[in-house]
Amino acid sequence: MSLGIPIAIAKPLAVVMVGLPARGKTYIARKLARYLSWTGYRAEVFNVGNYRRERFGAKVPASFFDPTNTQGLDSRKKAAFLAMDDMLTWFRDGGEIGIYDATNSTQKRRAWVMKQCDEAGVDVLFVETLCDDATIIDANIRDTKLLAPDYQGIDPDQAVADFRARIAHYERAYEPIACEQTSFVKLINVGQRIEAQHVQGYIQGRITQFVMNLHITPRTIWLTRHGESTANMAGVVGTDMPLTSRGAAYAKSLATFIGEQLPQPGTIWTSTLQRAIQTAAPLGRTTHPLKVLDEIDAGICDGMTYAQIQEQMPGEFARRSADKLGYRYPRGESYEDVIARLDPLILELERQQNPVLVVSHNAILRVLYGYLSDAAREAVPHIDVPLHTVMSLTPRAYGCEVKTTVLDAAV
Ligand code: F6P
Repeated sequence: MSLGIPIAIAKPLAVVMVGLPARGKTYIARKLARYLSWTGYRAEVFNVGNYRRERFGAKVPASFFDPTNTQGLDSRKKAAFLAMDDMLTWFRDGGEIGIYDATNSTQKRRAWVMKQCDEAGVDVLFVETLCDDATIIDANIRDTKLLAPDYQGIDPDQAVADFRARIAHYERAYEPIACEQTSFVKLINVGQRIEAQHVQGYIQGRITQFVMNLHITPRTIWLTRHGESTANMAGVVGTDMPLTSRGAAYAKSLATFIGEQLPQPGTIWTSTLQRAIQTAAPLGRTTHPLKVLDEIDAGICDGMTYAQIQEQMPGEFARRSADKLGYRYPRGESYEDVIARLDPLILELERQQNPVLVVSHNAILRVLYGYLSDAAREAVPHIDVPLHTVMSLTPRAYGCEVKTTVLDAAV
């Protein structure tokens, strides 16, 4: 089966995180792995901290990270070696983009990483996050580190003090990427400034663009299908039919719901199909109709019911049932095509710091919801996205909070 990715990569790539603790490395690493796997690449995170915790226990004192503590140094080196070993084995088994998540805070360590990857025929792109904004660092410690296994059951203020001491140890030894002859992207103060060097080819460019758009400001994304349309009533796929009276009633309920949730104008995106535009109309706000949000193109099956497709084109019906993700309607699209089509929108969605409402369609929302909720690609075409329901998603440092609300559509 084709993975449906835009461009296959010629050589495996290690994305190597660099940065002091609490600079958002793990957040970026996870988001990036999620984005790349959703796009169709074999991507995985190798987090050195997890190897350290497994091998030497989660609860080590800050002095473990003192650069003059030879025993601590040795243990940390071992964890780094184990993670690297696993990543290289994974590459040999067909892994494409490995994300090596550690501080990699000295030039010596980075030279070692480069050597390991080079000998294994793996390209390297460093992603360094630098931050000197104390408010961002503090928020990061409280939002993520206090939830980590290292601080389970420990008083929050004591945990914060210990984590600051850990950072101070790293600061003494930290060498930002300077004149190293490597490919790198530096993100300064959560993307306020970006520096890049030797970013080569399609995939490194995509990664750079993706990480540039990440931020940690919590905001809500509402996803909803259009209200019921006459095509839904008739049970046909595709078309561009208007709302039924139930659909129009849902549009009014949605306007009330969003009016309560979103007092200030946020961003409202709809598809360009009339059932979506009509659903957003009672909101009385500026909306942006986007072609990219139009429903999956059913090609020659547009306007048919599933029963008609099964009867008149049994081969097509069987192929779609066997592989709903990869199956492409003749002269239409597959779910993989839709994923590729929505790729630019994902970057826009990541970039938004204000609430966003998306009024779109079944297949499109499966793909967007699947991305945001970390669903496996194969599961995406089967996600249940009912009519007359709003899904509220709030991306957080570790995962996405999801709430669904069924709205009244009675006439
Ligand atoms: O039935 C409504 C609809 O939006 C169709 O227009 C579209 O083809 C279909 O859902 C997508 O769902 P599935 O991939 O399950 O056929």
